[in-house]
Amino acid sequence: MELLNRSRRLRTSSAIRAMVRENSLSVDDFIVPLFVQEGKGVKSEIPSMPGYFRYSLDTLTEELHTILGLGLKSVLVFVKVGDELKDNSGKEAFNPNGFMQETIKHIKAVAPELYIMTDVALDPYSSVGHDGIVSNGKIVNDPTVETLCKMAVSHAEAGADMVAPSDMMDGRVLALRQALDNAGYQDVGIMSYAAKYASSFYGPFREALDSAPVDMKDIPKDKKTYQMDPANRKEAIKEILQDVEQGADILMVKPGMPYLDIVRDAANEIEQPISVYQVSGEYAMIKAAVANGWLNEKEVVLESLIAFKRAGASLIASYFAKDVAYWLKE
Ligand code: PBG
Repeated sequence: MELLNRSRRLRTSSAIRAMVRENSLSVDDFIVPLFVQEGKGVKSEIPSMPGYFRYSLDTLTEELHTILGLGLKSVLVFVKVGDELKDNSGKEAFNPNGFMQETIKHIKAVAPELYIMTDVALDPYSSVGHDGIVSNGKIVNDPTVETLCKMAVSHAEAGADMVAPSDMMDGRVLALRQALDNAGYQDVGIMSYAAKYASSFYGPFREALDSAPVDMKDIPKDKKTYQMDPANRKEAIKEILQDVEQGADILMVKPGMPYLDIVRDAANEIEQPISVYQVSGEYAMIKAAVANGWLNEKEVVLESLIAFKRAGASLIASYFAKDVAYWLKE
């Protein structure tokens, strides 16, 4: 054949493939989710997340050294608290001496160079497993936002570098920005879960934190009145643009793999950094297939992550962050 363009020419050796490669992964791209609980000597594997653990503060110390040693720069902190601390108001969320606040101080003391991001939503503190306050069968927006503001300021006081509201209440980014500024925390950033879908891929996470909505009369069984409908695309851009306008510093799309179209739409639309969350169910799926010998873990994980970069994300929260940092060093 007389072909002028033969695409395969640029695939003939690993050298030329590397030279024309459009995207790459770096340890700087990753955010490490951390699950922390009270107690001593705890390193508890999450049953549906093989190889991923919940730590108590003493065992977390070693984990933080490992994370730093791998060159990773940031963590996203989630805490599991006892049922006795949960209620419908979520007031434990802004207890200055609460477990999240204690955890933030601990991380800052052990690893001052680590950039600390914290989850802001009421579900770990909610006796009914919702991200907001429930009243007459509804998750009430404005009172919830007031509580989230107190929560975010208490995280900043404890030393958080950035708060990550994952609650999907309306208007919370602006309210958080104003609350942080009024308290003197102009440099504390906001990574907004801007397009967060009501996804069934969060199952293992809710097991890890014991935070699923309870099965009770007058309590909504799912989060569909605040998280987004997986069928919607244009609405995601609306959410993202709103959060940009309200002062979000980083815009997140969540989950990851099934929502690459949304990541790309966001990248085409905004100039701010975009992050993506490869969530617990995505981790569980890959781990299950690997355990069966059906997929090659390293190859499939790296492929799933480069897809996020290709789609337009610059930051990736992933339970594989440590594995990738290790592989990149090899
Ligand atoms: C809570 C929150 C969830 C996740 C992050 N923050 C669960 C939910 O919305 O029910 C999910 C993360 C994961 O599945 O890895 N607001």
